[in-house]
Amino acid sequence: MDKKVINLLNEQVNKELYSAYLYLDMANYYSAANLNGFNNWFMVQTQEELSHAKLIIQYLQNNNIDVKLASINAPSFTFTDFIQPLEEAYKHEKYVTESIYTIYEAAQEAKDFRTLKFLDWFVDEQAEEEKNVDELINKFKLFASDGKGLYMLDSELATRVYTPPSLVL
Ligand code: FEO
Repeated sequence: MDKKVINLLNEQVNKELYSAYLYLDMANYYSAANLNGFNNWFMVQTQEELSHAKLIIQYLQNNNIDVKLASINAPSFTFTDFIQPLEEAYKHEKYVTESIYTIYEAAQEAKDFRTLKFLDWFVDEQAEEEKNVDELINKFKLFASDGKGLYMLDSELATRVYTPPSLVL
């Protein structure tokens, strides 16, 4: 497999693990504020990110490629209001989408059709992830401006459950 594609996939493992770490940090923020539904939503998000990292690791292993695990940075945000983690999560998902596109481009250049097929799932998943956070931000703006609305939204987010990825390697 092309060296550049391998490096980018290894870097993506780190980015997915950082995403899990970032969402865990956001979950902790909401837990400390007694917003257990928001906490649950980000805990589920953390599980999803771990599953993304595991999928890429599995893909590299299946192709007999060494997996290089790098240090994961500590999240550095200090949140000052309840919408801020949602907005940062949305920005982060857009960044991850760009990162997936960069690997896609490298795989295209290398005519690595197997990796392109693998990445197709991630392209769809990123569209879904961006949409989910964007919808949540809109709901927050529409309904959570007072305590009652915030309570209702928190109750809704408490019902989110983790679903394992549809991609099986
Ligand atoms: Fe794994 Fe939220 O991107």
